[in-house]
Parts: sequence; C-alpha cells; structure tokens
Amino acid sequence: MLRNDQLDQWDRDTFFHPSTHLAQFARGETPNRIVTGGSGCHIEDRDGNRLLDAFAGLYCVNAGYGRTEIAEAIAAQARELAYYHAYVGHGTEASITLAKMILDRAPKGMSKVYFGLGGSDANETNIKLIWYYNNILGRPEKKKIISRWRGYHGSGLMTGSLTGLELFHRKFDLPLTQVVHTEAPYYYRREDTSQSEADFVAHCVASLEELIEREGADTIAAFIGEPVLGTGGIVPPPAGYWQAIQEVLDRHDILLVADEVVTGFGRLGTMFGSDHYGMRPDLITIAKGLTSAYAPLSGSIVGDRMWKVLEDGTDENGPIGHGWTYSAHPIGAAAGVANLRLLDDLDLITNAGAVGDYLNQQMTQALGGHANVGEVRGEGMLCAVEFVKDRDDRVYFDAGDKVGPRIAAALLERGVIGRAMPQGDILGFAPPFCLTREEADEVVAKTADAVGSVLG
Ligand SMILES: Cc1ncc(COP(=O)(O)O)c(C=O)c1O
Repeated sequence: MLRNDQLDQWDRDTFFHPSTHLAQFARGETPNRIVTGGSGCHIEDRDGNRLLDAFAGLYCVNAGYGRTEIAEAIAAQARELAYYHAYVGHGTEASITLAKMILDRAPKGMSKVYFGLGGSDANETNIKLIWYYNNILGRPEKKKIISRWRGYHGSGLMTGSLTGLELFHRKFDLPLTQVVHTEAPYYYRREDTSQSEADFVAHCVASLEELIEREGADTIAAFIGEPVLGTGGIVPPPAGYWQAIQEVLDRHDILLVADEVVTGFGRLGTMFGSDHYGMRPDLITIAKGLTSAYAPLSGSIVGDRMWKVLEDGTDENGPIGHGWTYSAHPIGAAAGVANLRLLDDLDLITNAGAVGDYLNQQMTQALGGHANVGEVRGEGMLCAVEFVKDRDDRVYFDAGDKVGPRIAAALLERGVIGRAMPQGDILGFAPPFCLTREEADEVVAKTADAVGSVLG
C-alpha cells in the first residue's frame, strides 16, 4: 500500500478521537498511532511497530486478531445480503441463528435477545425496557436505577449517568436524576481498613439498604452492575457479594441488570459472569466478545419475568416503539455466529481460564512484593496491578503524578499494550483468549521491567 504522508496531518486536523485530550492532540503533544494490521495477540502500526496487545483493543478482540473464519463469514454475508432491517418480524438466517446460539449459552431463565450495536446503546435499551415494564405493571413511580461508583456502563446520556466515574460526568450535566449510585465492591479501597472481606460485604449491603430506604423501594426499578468491575479498576467482587446483593434486590422487588459487555462469552473462563458468581439477572447486556469486535453488535438478553410483561404490554399498547435501523445487522450477526463457533472449535474459553490464571499467578509472583504495589488482582483473563506510594499505610499517589499512565507508557516502549485505567494508578490487562503462556511470561517480565523503570 502506498504510504499517505498526509495521514498524520489529516488525523490531527479532522478526526475527533473519543476519550482523548483534544487540545494536546491537536497541538501534536500526544502521539497518534495508525494501526495497520493484527494477528493473534499482536497488532502492527504504520511505523513498523509490532505490539503485544494485552488489552485486546478495548477488551473486545477476544478471539484474537486476523481470524479469517470470521472475516470470511462477514464477506459472505455482505455478498449475499449486506442489509435488511429487523422491524415488524423481519430477520435473516444469521440474526435468528445468533439469537438461538446466545440463548443456548445464556444463564437459565432468559427468554429473548434484542440486538443493538454497542454496549452503550444496549444499556439504553435496558433502561427503556425497565421503564416500560413498570409502566405496564402500573408502577409509574418505580423508575430509578441504582448503579455503583466505579461502574462503567457506557457514555450516552443515561448510560453515562449509570457510569460511576467522575471523568464521564464532568461538564456533561450528568448524572441524570433517575440514577443513584451506591458503594463500589472494592475491598482494597475500603474506607475502614480493619474490615474483613465479610465485614465489607455486610457494609456494601447496609449502604444499599440505606439508599433503598432513603429513596423508597417503590421508586427504585433496577440495579445494574458488572460481574467484575471493569473500567473502574478491574476489581473482582469480594466473596459472597453477589449473593448478598441479590437477596436485597429480591426482597425489594428490584430488577437486576448484569452488564456482561466485558465478561460475556468467556472472559472469566466461564461463558457468563452471572453463572460464575451465581447472579440471577433479569437483563444481561452483551457486546464486545459477542463478535470479538469484528463487527459492531450488542444485545440485551431479556429474562422470562420481564418478557411476559413486555408481550402483554404490546397487546395493550401496540407494537413496541423501540428499534434502530441497524438492530440485528446481518453483517454483525454473521460475525457473531462465526465468532461463537470459533470460541467453541478452538476451546478458547478454556484457554482464557487457564492462561488467565497463569497470568495472574505470574504477575502476583513478579510484582506482589514490590514496595509500590498495593494489590495484584484478577479473574479469568483479567488482571490488574494497583500502585501506591506507601504500601503499608495504603497511601495513594497524587493523580498529578500520573504514575499509572507513566508505567503504561514505559510498558508500551517495551512492546506491550496494557491500559492505565482512568481512575487511580491501576494498570489493567485483558488479553485475547488465545494468549499463550510464553506471551503471558512476556507481559509479566516487561511489566516488571516497566515498573522498575518508573518506580525503581
Ligand atoms: C461493562 C461495559 N458496559 C458498557 C460498555 C459500553 O460499551 P460501548 O463502548 O460499546 O458503548 C462498556 C465499554 O467498555 C463496558 O465495559
């Protein structure tokens, strides 16, 4: 391919990049990277760098880069039928087959799949369905949604409100009033360090109960949570957390939305995080790993108890007034079918569990004893290292020191992509499921080296 020497300038001049410091980028103070190819766990850029992508893009290229099986399925679908809509009962072989494949893999008690394009719009759909549900049931006051601080559920109006990270609210007039936040199940950062894990779970439950009491259970429709907090710091829940939360929700007739955009389809070494932690969701959000990001596609899996009410609702009110032009887009659906088959054929979820455990063990061994490492944690093919100024007294670095971003940059210089998580000095890893033990060793060795270069 001929090199387009204007591309860098066009990038600075015309392209509005998400989650980017716009002014620094425009001034050329922060680097750009033009990605040209990928294979397995590696990407290549236009400057000839080959990088081990230990975050699988944005924890989404689960099957790995360069999978011709998925590419061929997309091409075949595009040739045969690039598009038809899914309104008023229309579908394609790919979209119907994918809905069936998802339900065959979903936790018990799920009824139907609505398809969207990304995780944010799937969560917007979920909130609308919850409001519709309570209106049909004659409970117009029961509308608020409880989310957790540090939860990530997207960056739309409603989903940006559900997201419990300051950066996603600041100057956007968010969160909207229908959203209330509760305690993050983040044991390492508990306020009272004398608490055991069980004490801390009891504390999370008590905070939730207080919130429900204060707002009134008859005003609260649903609770949304990721089985493992993702963008908020890659934080697996303390033991017993989900059972305890589920009990409170059941008692107050509050629906549970499991946001499985990261955990769905194998990232924890099991098909769904809900099964992994014994959650009983009414709605499950899926995206990323559904197609391994080969095409944009998301979904809301609707559970039995809601589905029946939605059906009854349309008998009373006519067709449901919800849908996107690209709902169940055939190309996304074809990618999803091929991706789920590939995960099965190559047993990639088993590999995610086994090599993920290995990565976590090795990372703990290499860095768990470092004076500036507060915690190494993870679950399945998710791993995080949290850095602190003083480990014994758990003193955090000042945000202005940018310790997390500096370590991520040092790691990148060594050829490995990790992610400086947006809140706190936390280096996150979420590699493709095809990661080998040798690649895991490389991630760990280069991380240890990068940490040494920044913190000694
Ligand atoms: C748990 C979770 N939910 C929702 C989203 C939003 O998905 P998208 O960026 O596709 O809109 C993300 C994205 O990272 C996510 O991690």
